[in-house]
Amino acid sequence: MNNNPKLVGQAALVTGANSGIGKAVAIALANDGAKVVVNYVTKPELADSVVDEIKANGGTAIALQADVSNEQQVQAMFQQMYQAFGTIDILVNNAGLQKDSAFQDMSLADWQLVININLTGQFLCAREAVREFLRRGINPAISKAAGKIICMSSVHEVIPWGGHVNYATSKGGVMMLMKSMAQELAPKKIRVNSIGPGAIQTPINKSAWDTPEALEKLLTLIPYDRIGEPEDIGKLAAWMASDESDYITGTTIFCDGGMTLYPGFSTNG
Ligand code: BGC
Repeated sequence: MNNNPKLVGQAALVTGANSGIGKAVAIALANDGAKVVVNYVTKPELADSVVDEIKANGGTAIALQADVSNEQQVQAMFQQMYQAFGTIDILVNNAGLQKDSAFQDMSLADWQLVININLTGQFLCAREAVREFLRRGINPAISKAAGKIICMSSVHEVIPWGGHVNYATSKGGVMMLMKSMAQELAPKKIRVNSIGPGAIQTPINKSAWDTPEALEKLLTLIPYDRIGEPEDIGKLAAWMASDESDYITGTTIFCDGGMTLYPGFSTNG
């Protein structure tokens, strides 16, 4: 655990936390003292290893299975979380996937899968969390806010992405989901924000970094000249969930090494 943990006594749910960004976020929140639900849909052994790592660091965590796009499974997961931890203070809506194809070849099934997981899944989990935040209200010993939601968006909420139209559309939707929720719920002291990761070294974009040629091409899109690490996002999420960011709501914080700065224009245009 960190020397000065910011989230002691808080209960957090991180969706899609058995790998990649979600795993790093779950570990970072636990290092700051939060009790963490490690949600997963497949590969329970990976979720168990995240739980084990958190426990080895002196933290508290459980793994819970649910498909975030399934209303019944989401509601059952929240009930299991309340049985284990009593309530929820922090939701990190992280679960997401890509099903890439040329636009003319994109199947309706792949369109719907990506929208269902990346966008509807965030709605379903956020709605359950908000119901509990409103029921419980603020606990001043825990946090200044009644609850915090962090949506994992992407640089592709603003950067159009050919060959990935379903994914970019889902992230554009996440931006308006986040902002509209933030506007509606701020008077109830619920903070809703997004993180917009750039290229972070995880399984989702392996083909973009797993050969020197691919990495070199990727780095032309990143002015800061390094690929992101999951821990870059974990640390940011822990801060955004804490009272140190209490006056921040309705905002996407890009964590992208400058990918959203239109690097192609640095010597052109
Ligand atoms: C995507 C990655 C991609 C990154 C930058 C992310 O949202 O999931 O595949 O590398 O955006 O383009």
